[in-house]
Amino acid sequence: MAQRTLAMIKPDAVSRGDAGKILARYEEEGFRVLACKKTTLSRSEAEAFYGVHSERPFFGDLCDFMTSGPIYAVALERDDAITHLREVMGATNPAEAAEGTIRALYAENIERNSVHGSDAPETAAEELAFHFSGRELL
Ligand code: RTP
Ligand code: MG
Repeated sequence: MAQRTLAMIKPDAVSRGDAGKILARYEEEGFRVLACKKTTLSRSEAEAFYGVHSERPFFGDLCDFMTSGPIYAVALERDDAITHLREVMGATNPAEAAEGTIRALYAENIERNSVHGSDAPETAAEELAFHFSGRELL
């Protein structure tokens, strides 16, 4: 059944000019791009988006990075979208990411790792609503 998930192309990939290649990969993987916007997160937006990690030692650095330049927020639809996107992204640390995954191809290190993907149906719904209004996802 068709499912929706939220991807972000992170500041490292956007600044290198890799966003278009990553969007093309989503399409090659059978995702439909429902909505896509280039935007820059404020500090409070980054802290809210990654709030689940607020007690982690890397939280400050993560928010510095995610506010360091523009990102693309991308709403994607496909069968089994959440799991498939996580597979296509590869492991959080690119040193551990499987060959051919987006992070293996593009990521610089565990923090500057090029892409985000929702990890469960509940977070996908929250994260889609964080970036897009209902009418943008029709
Ligand atoms: P994401 O949420 O961005 O899709 O990444 P993920 O699920 O693979 O990883 P998660 O554990 O949710 O971590 C969120 C982001 O925080 C940064 N991070 N840095 N320095 C570190 O040890 C560390 N660990 C995580 C990464 O940018 C990671 O994607
Ligand atoms: Mg995560």
